[in-house]
Amino acid sequence: MKNKVKTIAVLTSGGDSPGMNAAIRAVVRASAFNNLKCFGIYRGYQGLIENDFIELGARSVSNLINRGGTFLKSARSKDFMSKEFRKKAFKNLKDRNIDALVVIGGDGSFTGADVFSQEFDIPVIGIPGTIDNDINGTDYTLGYDTALNTVVEAIDKIRDTASSHDRLFLVEVMGRDAGDIALNSGIGAGAEEILIPEEDLGIERLIDSLHKSRKSGKTSSIVVVAEGDQIGKNITQLATDIEKDLPEYEVKVTVLGHIQRGGSPSCYDRVLASRLGVGAVDALLEGESNIMVGIQNKKIAYVPFEIAINVKKTLDFDLIRVADIVST
Ligand code: F6P
Repeated sequence: MKNKVKTIAVLTSGGDSPGMNAAIRAVVRASAFNNLKCFGIYRGYQGLIENDFIELGARSVSNLINRGGTFLKSARSKDFMSKEFRKKAFKNLKDRNIDALVVIGGDGSFTGADVFSQEFDIPVIGIPGTIDNDINGTDYTLGYDTALNTVVEAIDKIRDTASSHDRLFLVEVMGRDAGDIALNSGIGAGAEEILIPEEDLGIERLIDSLHKSRKSGKTSSIVVVAEGDQIGKNITQLATDIEKDLPEYEVKVTVLGHIQRGGSPSCYDRVLASRLGVGAVDALLEGESNIMVGIQNKKIAYVPFEIAINVKKTLDFDLIRVADIVST
């Protein structure tokens, strides 16, 4: 049975990612296409609590598809963790007759969405937006492809200087709990070794591998290290430890940091954002709630929040084997 959604609101929450603007645009235009009223909420759940809304029509999202970041801005709202503030947030929606919410964000944002939706019986749909690609139930999250391209471009540049000076570079990439960025950018950029949070093979194996590649004739190397990797205490300490065991290497450290979160979205992310934004409005019109709209085998999929949030996404471990082989 179709439910009677007439007015929806959209917000972006948590760490921003390239493609969020394109997703907002798609939600707004799909709303206009279906004769729904649409509001944007500034600063994620914080703006929802503080009543920071703007009405958005099809023309108010022009020239956004190519822009990184999120024009609605994003926040990690601590207030939204408390029921008292969630009550205020719900009142702000009701005062404008908003009867559904679209949340673009990561697992923390979906956790808030799930609680809110159940507490106040309002339909909420999630769109996975994070560069980490760590949300279960979707093959890709918004911004991941752009971030990979940013990392590969940066490492290509590092490779030039690494090779000119015969140096070993440790390059830290984002991914607190997930190795997707490290593993895929590492293969794409031709890294010697890739260190990820999901697998701790110990420093001895790393040293041994670097030793072997030196002996095999390699004069410079790139090691991609995910932010959440367990081997070193931190990347600088890891560099010191490697230099101790392999004095023949001069080790340099580059932390790519937040450049990975910025920039114009790739075409893949723009198309994904457009599909997920339209998918979110479709889902609301079909009477869905408490689900994330994701992509599985190139098709739109509806995934219950509890599965997106509570089931850990599995890493493609065959990529580790591929990385090992192609770095021989
Ligand atoms: O969740 C996305 C992410 O980019 C993580 O990879 C990273 O650990 C974190 O956000 C950084 O967050 P902040 O912008 O708050 O430093």
